[in-house]
Amino acid sequence: MSRLLIKGGNELNGEVTVKAAKNAVLPILAATLLTEDKCEIENVPHITDISNMLKILETLGSKVRFEDNVITVDNANVNKHNVPNDLAKELRSSFFLLGPILGRMHRAVVAYPGGCDIGVRPLDIHIKGLREMGIGVEESHGMMYCDGSRLKGANVLLDFPSVGATENLMMAAALAKGKTRIANAAKEPEITDLQNFINAMGGKVNGAGSSIIEVEGVQKLHGCTYRPIPDRIVAGTLLIAGGVCGGKVTVKGAVREHLEPLLFNLNKCTCFIDSRGDKISVISQARPRNLDKFETQPYPGFPTDLQSQMMVMMAVSEGTGVIVENIFETRFRIVRELIKMGAKITVKDRTAVIRGVKALEGAAVSAMDLRGGAALVIAGAKAEGYTTVDGVEHIDRGYESIETLFTLLGAEVKRLR
Ligand code: UD1
Repeated sequence: MSRLLIKGGNELNGEVTVKAAKNAVLPILAATLLTEDKCEIENVPHITDISNMLKILETLGSKVRFEDNVITVDNANVNKHNVPNDLAKELRSSFFLLGPILGRMHRAVVAYPGGCDIGVRPLDIHIKGLREMGIGVEESHGMMYCDGSRLKGANVLLDFPSVGATENLMMAAALAKGKTRIANAAKEPEITDLQNFINAMGGKVNGAGSSIIEVEGVQKLHGCTYRPIPDRIVAGTLLIAGGVCGGKVTVKGAVREHLEPLLFNLNKCTCFIDSRGDKISVISQARPRNLDKFETQPYPGFPTDLQSQMMVMMAVSEGTGVIVENIFETRFRIVRELIKMGAKITVKDRTAVIRGVKALEGAAVSAMDLRGGAALVIAGAKAEGYTTVDGVEHIDRGYESIETLFTLLGAEVKRLR
């Protein structure tokens, strides 16, 4: 198990180019199962969530190549419909493989998935939607057995705009007979990207980005080459790091519109934002002022995936601020670690109150989940002295060599093996 060693205190200055979004690439890889042709996905980072998804595809019979950030998937020989237990446990998004496997093979078996341990994460919205589409779903001993022999288009209303459920249903509908209408759909940019990918394969999906998505099932989809959207969460993490540590951090290849709620809040903390073309910079020259309050929300609200990083910003800002976490109930586990570094934070239920301190101190801390882990790296880069972060395997799920990203900006971060 590796650890990160961080010597804090440097200002951050520099530019980093972001690659494709993990949360766009994962459903797109799942959707490749909808065709027997070859698909090429470009600009993909080497992160473990993606290598785990590729392993799952291989066990289903896909031929996969991942070279120079391009993934080629050849699904001509896919003949299995079971996602193995051990791999599914590594990756929560494995659950949305149900949609495309059902679309293609009309039956599927998937173990209850794993992923970040950040709350109960039930699957009721997925299951309800799949049942509306005529799919028989039986749960037994932690496995889901699905019979898609009567799969058909349907009207579905989601109880909550779940990202994964929206994606699952879009993929199940792509090859289903008839029209599917998903109401109260998630509006995240990754959903629009999945729509664009399915359409690039010859599908008929529209409405993504709004709360109603319509999918007209087609008989066959074909292969394509596709470049997914840039990772707004990696970009946001680095921009927040700039705000916390001071200096000028530029991310290249990001889409400003996708980061609007973060940039709004950074601006309120008195950071200056400069964006030109596909470059966004955060310039921070003085101690930031605390936000009064922000709440995590489905897109286009503030993303839960940037909440922990923003908490670090608030922990060192002047004044007191409040965070309400509305999406995942246990995303405050970083608080205990930040307190070890001298932060003043109290938590009750879904609300954290953060009293900004002038300085954090280096400490030995543990990453408990992916985004919380990245937030601890920001805290270590800001703190006085040395910080070690263990649990780096969580961070590696979504950041391609986080030590390199931070070193490029002038932080001192080393991986200890
Ligand atoms: C996706 C992202 C994750 C992000 C999250 C919210 C991927 C691979 N992951 O996760 O990084 O943090 O969106 O933006 O894209 N829920 C239910 N029942 C369900 C499904 C979800 O109650 O059947 C609840 C969840 O417990 C959670 C909320 O709905 O409280 C949001 O979950 P969802 O939008 O489904 O997130 P994921 O797709 O798992």
